[in-house]
Amino acid sequence: MRAAVATGTGGPEVLSVGEVEAPSPAAGEVLIEVVATAVNRADTLQRQGFYPPPPGASETIGLECSGRVVGLGEGVTGWSVGDEVCALLAGGGYAELVAVPVGQVMPVPGGVSLIEAAGLPEVAATVWSNVFMTAHLAKGERFLVHGGAGGIGTMAIQLAAARGAEVFATAGSPAKLELCRSLGATHVIDYREDDFVEVLAEAGGADVILDNMGAKYLGRNVDALATGGRLVVIGMQGGAKGELDLSVLLRKRASVTATSLRARPVTEKAAICCGVVENVWPLVAAGAIRPIVETTMPLEDVARGHQLMEDGSHSGKIVLTL
Ligand SMILES: NC(=O)c1ccc[n+]([C@@H]2O[C@H](COP(=O)([O-])OP(=O)(O)OC[C@H]3O[C@@H](n4cnc5c(N)ncnc54)[C@H](OP(=O)(O)O)[C@@H]3O)[C@@H](O)[C@H]2O)c1
Repeated sequence: MRAAVATGTGGPEVLSVGEVEAPSPAAGEVLIEVVATAVNRADTLQRQGFYPPPPGASETIGLECSGRVVGLGEGVTGWSVGDEVCALLAGGGYAELVAVPVGQVMPVPGGVSLIEAAGLPEVAATVWSNVFMTAHLAKGERFLVHGGAGGIGTMAIQLAAARGAEVFATAGSPAKLELCRSLGATHVIDYREDDFVEVLAEAGGADVILDNMGAKYLGRNVDALATGGRLVVIGMQGGAKGELDLSVLLRKRASVTATSLRARPVTEKAAICCGVVENVWPLVAAGAIRPIVETTMPLEDVARGHQLMEDGSHSGKIVLTL
């Protein structure tokens, strides 16, 4: 089958499209003919050799897709050949066919095209699991998301706002700050010029922070938390090793959690996908959350897609079509 292949590890130029062996569905798996997939930061790390697939996962890059069911492994119920679906993957999305555990297959939410749906599983599952299942963001609480105009950020702002939180978002340009505002952030902070700690302190502190920066923001994020605040770190764009003043955490009775979605067991991913279908998809179908897609390009342009993500000028998702 046709799939993205790499000549080795390195820059986007190592990627092209070639032929690889097609998967077949094992027991409990669904085989999907991929219509579209989307670029994630983790894909760029895998390409560089810093983020190998978990044991048993496809070597082909790609953490999400949309498409049609073309095969069912032993014991699979609930889906039929021809159904339009989207799925959260441990790998293998940049390909014509992918086999995925049935618990990670989701319907396409109402009102969304099959192509737009390709960019929803990873951001919806990451935001739902971290902000709601782990940090328990509640109605009326103050929520800060860093990188509000990115793939994760655009979903986080919309979902938090739709569930009644007061949303603060950081971004790095006037156009991106405007996008954050249009999605439901009532306070936008230019991270190049303004100090998010001061903005949050004035407002009473953040109850929940979703962080993509890691070490670089660790101390300042804890400073920005309210009493009882919860910081969830999902990215290390600003480094992995930071210093933390535990006395601040103690005084605030605050918590710091860090999670990775890809490494979670299949049963946990299935529970997260159930939560997404139950809680996020109805908001998408109602128009309260819309997919934000920067651009759509054919899989043959995969190197360009990775370059675009690394340049950092994009907002929302970069979708690759098969
Ligand atoms: N742990 C997990 O399970 C998991 C799952 C999915 C994603 N992630 C992580 O989540 C992060 C976001 O992913 P994504 O797909 O949304 O990537 P993305 O679309 O490329 O977004 C990256 C974001 O980083 C922001 N940023 C860059 N420098 C910043 C700074 N100094 N302060 C605040 N924000 C800054 C960018 O803001 P501007 O564009 O405004 O400059 C952009 O919004 C990545 O680190 C990714 O690895 C983790």
